Amino acid sequence: MCGIVGAIAQRNVAKILLEGLSRLEYRGYDSSGVAINNEVGVRAHRAVGKVQALKDKFESAPLDGKMGIAHTRWATHGKPTEENAHPHFSGDDLALVHNGIIENHETLRRNLIELGYEFRSQTDTEVIVHLIHNALKTEPDLLQAVKNALKHLHGAFAIAVTLNHENDRLIAARKGSPLVVGVGIEENFVASDQLALLHVTDQFIFLEEGDVVELTRDQITVFDANDQVQERPISVFNHHVDASDKGEFRHYMLKEIYEQPKVIAACLEGRISEDRVLTSSFGADSAFLKDVENIHIVACGTSYHAGMVAKYWIEELANIPCSVEVASEYRYRKVAVPKKSLFLTLSQSGETADTLAAMRMAKGLGYLTTLAICNVPSSTLVRESDLTLLTRAGTEIGVASTKAFTTQLTALLITSIAIAAEKGELSDDKHTALVHALRSLPSYVDAAIKQDSAIKLVSEHFANKHNALFLGRGPMFPIALEGALKLKEISYIHAEAYPAGELKHGPLALVDETMPIITVAPNNQMLDKLKSNLQEVRARGGELFVFGAKETGFAQAEGIHYNEIPWVEEVLEPIVHTIPLQLLSYHVAVVKGTDVDQPRNLAKSVTVE
Ligand code: G6P
Repeated sequence: MCGIVGAIAQRNVAKILLEGLSRLEYRGYDSSGVAINNEVGVRAHRAVGKVQALKDKFESAPLDGKMGIAHTRWATHGKPTEENAHPHFSGDDLALVHNGIIENHETLRRNLIELGYEFRSQTDTEVIVHLIHNALKTEPDLLQAVKNALKHLHGAFAIAVTLNHENDRLIAARKGSPLVVGVGIEENFVASDQLALLHVTDQFIFLEEGDVVELTRDQITVFDANDQVQERPISVFNHHVDASDKGEFRHYMLKEIYEQPKVIAACLEGRISEDRVLTSSFGADSAFLKDVENIHIVACGTSYHAGMVAKYWIEELANIPCSVEVASEYRYRKVAVPKKSLFLTLSQSGETADTLAAMRMAKGLGYLTTLAICNVPSSTLVRESDLTLLTRAGTEIGVASTKAFTTQLTALLITSIAIAAEKGELSDDKHTALVHALRSLPSYVDAAIKQDSAIKLVSEHFANKHNALFLGRGPMFPIALEGALKLKEISYIHAEAYPAGELKHGPLALVDETMPIITVAPNNQMLDKLKSNLQEVRARGGELFVFGAKETGFAQAEGIHYNEIPWVEEVLEPIVHTIPLQLLSYHVAVVKGTDVDQPRNLAKSVTVE
């Protein structure tokens, strides 16, 4: 999604801004731009494609100055062209970058055209810069003019604004889209993601909803939604979790797959004792674990798939009903909330617009409490939810989520066990057995990753495939969904997932010799049923790729490619069996030569609806 970087310093900021944009590349974008403010005025370069194209423009026509704003754009209104790339200007003097969507842009555009403004782009953003320009006609102070203009906007925004002849201050604001201030020494910064500024500072102020900030070289003044000056706390970034280096790995995605044993161990740390899940993991207010009688899980994308797995655990272990829904649907319907329901959100970023909106709506619906399982401690979701369980996966750069997913599953299993235990649904022995299984999880995941070279060989069979079908039963169905999502995200192969029992109700019609069918086959009570479903596929010539546990009785045969996955306790199967599917998608994408870490059209953090 779109990214913002802004800087006001004693030194030339061009390099700082370009490096900031490079650090935001992982979020997904299709064009970029920078505006630099210096004695001559505000000058900009824009480019379609990678940030490198923008850097090339700076090489051939350098822009120097001590203040500037920069942007990576992920197209929503208007194609990815130079005209639509930010910064947008009103006249030659006033430049602005924007994340989010202005919902009333059409009305504002009509009004501004009547006032004589000419639009140079198709974006919703351009109305903001003209509105500020118009406000400056009656209110010469830039800060106040920005505040006045923002009152007209409906929708979500994070903005940064610079005006010629105002070389001493940069104005920024947020409502609905994240924005963070980077605190330096005689220099200050603003960005949509703290990662964009780690090369210049490790001190951050997280702006809150409705904040407007004035940055000078030595001062930061934050005005809240009621226009009152506020002292916001400064947080110091922990560099141990900076993941902006690929190390020995060719791609971030592979690095993040390999990090899973370590981050799963971190997720478990301090949350389990020798034989118990610790209720203190949920903070002081853990009474909900005992009181809860129903759970609504709401999330998007990969996080939604994690929620689907959790439904099996919660109903099996804690014996209470659990429903799972994508946030974009939940937020637009009337939801019936049974008494003593927990509202549980899952989000890697904690900034996904639909998930945030769903959580805000849920707050008025009489839930027992709102719990967020999230990877980013400073995120809006964490700050606004009643309770939080952090997944501790560290920064995830690859757009295709891997370690964030398996740590979400780990946190969800901890939650399921804690609820089951507090509600008296678990015997002591079963509780102990589950915790012992959890203790072994990092080493099981490590063993699954060791299948990497074997899976790489299998991936070559997908070089010329255009479709793939993933099958799973029980909690392996959401794992099949996640496998299909990974494959389509990064290799652009059309992939579908079905509960294996549904095969004969439709997808079997697609099966012929050209159709690869991928399945994860743990050695559980569903194995025989799954095997029958796979026979139906083989009988129609479908090529099977089976990732099976020991003693499942599968073997390499004509039309059957078999990879063995280490045995694990049944409750852990969804987590461990995810690994071969991650590795398969990764290697298929490499074979196909796609942009593994930044697949086309996708964004890491979806901050617009
Ligand atoms: C985007 C990302 C996915 C992610 C989804 C939800 O689509 O590309 O990887 O699963 O958003 O994001 P969240 O941060 O809320 O988990």
